[in-house]
Amino acid sequence: MSDVLLSARGLTKRFTTRGPYGRRKEFTAVDGVSFDVRPGETLAVVGESGSGKSTSARIVAKLMDPSAGTLEFEGEDVTRATGARLARYRADVQVVFQDPFSSLNPRHTVERILMAPLDYQGIAPTGGRRAHTKELMERVGLNPDHAQRYPAQFSGGQAQRIGIARALAVNPKLVICDEAVSALDVSVQAQVIDLLLRLQRESGFSYLFIAHDLAVVRRMAQRVAVMSNGKIVEQGPCRQVFDAPGDPYTRTLLAAIPRINPEWDRRRRAAAG
Ligand SMILES: Nc1ncnc2c1ncn2[C@@H]1O[C@H](COP(=O)(O)OP(=O)(O)OP(=O)(O)O)[C@@H](O)[C@H]1O
Ligand SMILES: [Mg+2]
Repeated sequence: MSDVLLSARGLTKRFTTRGPYGRRKEFTAVDGVSFDVRPGETLAVVGESGSGKSTSARIVAKLMDPSAGTLEFEGEDVTRATGARLARYRADVQVVFQDPFSSLNPRHTVERILMAPLDYQGIAPTGGRRAHTKELMERVGLNPDHAQRYPAQFSGGQAQRIGIARALAVNPKLVICDEAVSALDVSVQAQVIDLLLRLQRESGFSYLFIAHDLAVVRRMAQRVAVMSNGKIVEQGPCRQVFDAPGDPYTRTLLAAIPRINPEWDRRRRAAAG
């Protein structure tokens, strides 16, 4: 088995925005980002708001094409994958988003939501849909009797468990968590982190774990990449990066991160236009 599951090299994403007087402006949100994720490990990505974490995640999830750079998965170039190769990648790489309610279809029952990834892959679960749904719900600590309920009938923490169960439905090799526990209350957050750790122990997949809370990162990840202005300024084992940051910029950044409230920052950026 290869010692690298996912390898990103020089990932770059440029957006064209409209400046004053409708002038087109190029903006580089992700700028030559390279990292590896090994089988069964968790790589955390931290960095200030707007540093390009989610954009990088979207590229890795193939929700968005990079402007430049390559993505290798299990030693195979998947940057421009299409057809069956892309479908397989979409099964191997799953995403859990920050807001469970906006990422779950409100008009679908839990069973339909959990079966959607299998339906997309054209897989019929052995043992049937009901049994597979029940098993997934039990794995994430949900009451399987609630399979015919709708997302709005669950709490935030429970809804996030549905999102996690959906990610697990097709046995992924990599699960991308983009601030997946950030919106949850502290006590619920701790439970969901325990769940994420247990699921990884049971199934052996890798996480690409985006978070701004360094205490959470320390619990979840073996390695961490620090992003600033679209670039990775430092990466390495958590202990090394957190306890003895090599980059002076990382030190400043790490000192500032716990105090940054992303929601507050988003509003500030929105207000600044
Ligand atoms: N579709 C888009 N079009 C134009 N600009 C975009 C687009 N998506 C993201 N950006 C910009 O790219 C930059 C990086 O955004 P991104 O969402 O990746 O940051 P982030 O690190 O995830 O931030 P946060 O911690 O707030 O979630 C931001 O300046 C953002 O405004
Ligand atoms: Mg983000």
